[in-house]
Amino acid sequence: MPKPLFEVKDLRVAVVDDFRLVKGLPGPVTDDGEQLEPGWVETLPGVSYHVHEGEVLGMVGESASGKSLMLMGAFGLLSSGARVIGGTTRYRDHVYQPFHPWSGEDDEGLRREYKERRVAGTTTAGYTDDAWAELVGTEVGFLFQDPIGSWTPDIVIGEQSGEALAEHTNLSIKEIEERVFDALGEVGLPKSGRLFRAFRHELSRGMAQRAMLAAALTKAPYLLIADEPLNGLDPPVAAGIMELIMDMQAKRGMAMVFVSHDLAVVARIADRVAVVYGGEMVEHASVTDIYHHPKHPYTAGLVGSLPGVTPGRLRTIDGEAQLLVDIDRGLCSFADRCSYATEICRSVAPRASVVGATEVRCHHAADLDLPGIRG
Ligand SMILES: Nc1ncnc2c1ncn2[C@@H]1O[C@H](COP(=O)(O)OP(=O)(O)OP(=O)(O)O)[C@@H](O)[C@H]1O
Ligand code: SF4
Ligand SMILES: [Mg+2]
Repeated sequence: MPKPLFEVKDLRVAVVDDFRLVKGLPGPVTDDGEQLEPGWVETLPGVSYHVHEGEVLGMVGESASGKSLMLMGAFGLLSSGARVIGGTTRYRDHVYQPFHPWSGEDDEGLRREYKERRVAGTTTAGYTDDAWAELVGTEVGFLFQDPIGSWTPDIVIGEQSGEALAEHTNLSIKEIEERVFDALGEVGLPKSGRLFRAFRHELSRGMAQRAMLAAALTKAPYLLIADEPLNGLDPPVAAGIMELIMDMQAKRGMAMVFVSHDLAVVARIADRVAVVYGGEMVEHASVTDIYHHPKHPYTAGLVGSLPGVTPGRLRTIDGEAQLLVDIDRGLCSFADRCSYATEICRSVAPRASVVGATEVRCHHAADLDLPGIRG
């Protein structure tokens, strides 16, 4: 098996929590041995995932389970209030440590510039690791879950779309403009100067997401990171964007990480699925195994709640997920919602193990016979 194109190993992310700040509870220790001040709490305790060339990894989980932290953390693109405290990201042969670039940095100007660009969310420029910035800037495209907010307000769409190429390649301005116009056409937007010169407030959400896809395509990306790209779109618009993404992925053979809270959407596009719960990947398997032979009770709940799977009323998963900052990592994070929980589940956190061809975090995965979709 060739090496994955993109690989995240043991990614740890912490966020600021006011309650802990008030209580003065000590923060976690980073991989570098730095003791973080009170208020910081570890929310991703070490997440690993990968994607091979041309492959689509679907990531599914409910709101606030940590999906965006897993994606954005891997690229050092977290907003303030969250920071990477450990782990590595590898793209091709380049290994990157996505710690906040300004931790331990004295360069005020660099910090400010990075922050402005990062908040804008449309550029990967500003990394302190130049080789990584160049690779990502030219080969990785991003679709964010807030298509309008992801564009910088005071720079026209056309200019922003070509920003990474202008920064990291020797292409002339004319060549970059041609690429941008071509990409706009490819995603079904008018190849007009009017759109090229539009600001984000002049776009509908659907147009803004299409334009974001066009911006990604100007790079001819090998990897597309799509963080809930259908979020907040009307169903017909969402369906159109979904078709477009699937089309582009197939046509260009891009690898993709596609995040959604909707298992049905993920199943349409993914080769493999990672199920996220409580800041961890609790199950990781092929689409077929996830649907027909779920091994984790939470996955079985998700599958059972799909329309048409359970006769009669939709099944639901009882209880509420805890906030990531409140999760006790000394036991199974799903224990208070799980009808299969036993004593060990409430006293020992399950490690990832392999059952069949599935990687799963559940003490009883090998013994449970959970219902999936028949056929
Ligand atoms: N910058 C931040 N500062 C403080 N807390 C944060 C920050 N970013 C995320 N969090 C918290 O971490 C948790 C996980 O957030 P994340 O955005 O990864 O969830 P998600 O699974 O992507 O949810 P959704 O499906 O709603 O997008 C949430 O409780 C969120 O409030
Ligand atoms: S470890 Fe126990 S509580 Fe957690 S999912 Fe498995 S059976 Fe349920
Ligand atoms: Mg998210």
